[in-house]
Amino acid sequence: MASKPIILLVSLLAIAIAASTAEAQLGIINIPGTVFCTINGNIGLNGIATPVFPNALVLLRCGGAVVANATTNGSGFFSIVLNPSPLPVSTVLSSCNLVVNTPLSTCNTTLPAVGRLLSPLQFVGTTLVGLLNVTNLIPAGFQLRLNLG
Ligand SMILES: *[C@@H]1O[C@H](CO)[C@@H](O)[C@H](O)[C@H]1NC(C)=O
Ligand SMILES: *[C@@H]1O[C@H](CO)[C@@H](O)[C@H](O)[C@H]1NC(C)=O
Ligand SMILES: *[C@@H]1O[C@H](CO)[C@@H](O)[C@H](O)[C@H]1NC(C)=O
Ligand SMILES: *[C@@H]1O[C@H](CO)[C@@H](O)[C@H](O)[C@H]1NC(C)=O
Repeated sequence: MASKPIILLVSLLAIAIAASTAEAQLGIINIPGTVFCTINGNIGLNGIATPVFPNALVLLRCGGAVVANATTNGSGFFSIVLNPSPLPVSTVLSSCNLVVNTPLSTCNTTLPAVGRLLSPLQFVGTTLVGLLNVTNLIPAGFQLRLNLG
């Protein structure tokens, strides 16, 4: 009689392990974004005409450690791909930030040389690429910060 709950528990454990293994294997996170050459790194009111920030080093910082990086191209576009991600999506969302490590003065000398643009991350959805389930995160909005925390 006592064996049924045990069997159930063992099956649940097996399912949980299988699920977490699948997640570990398929845990790919894609973080694309565009950095603009403005005081807050975001697109301005003039929209499409906002100048972009090319050749900027974008770091993914998690709990103060740099986990990955990418450089913006001539359109200010960058893409950080974690394949596999060393951290679960929930942890990346809660403890990671994007930091533009190149000072804003690099793209426009009238902009500050001190401080760095920092943005938290936002979940936008998942996409299937072949058999792989890719989680897509984007910058939630950059801000100029003197202290990265
Ligand atoms: C950026 O990442 C590459 C590996 O992808 C690493 O070799 C390089 O040191 C990193 N650069 C910085 C500034 O973190
Ligand atoms: C930057 O990368 C994006 C996405 O791949 C691409 O659409 C764009 O043409 C690239 N810009 C330049 C100047 O290469
Ligand atoms: C540089 O930044 C200033 C202040 O934001 C702006 O008025 C100017 O148009 C910018 N120059 C270029 C070339 O983007
Ligand atoms: C990808 O995985 C997430 C959670 O792990 C799930 O919610 C989502 O439906 C999956 N997406 C696809 C397209 O299978």
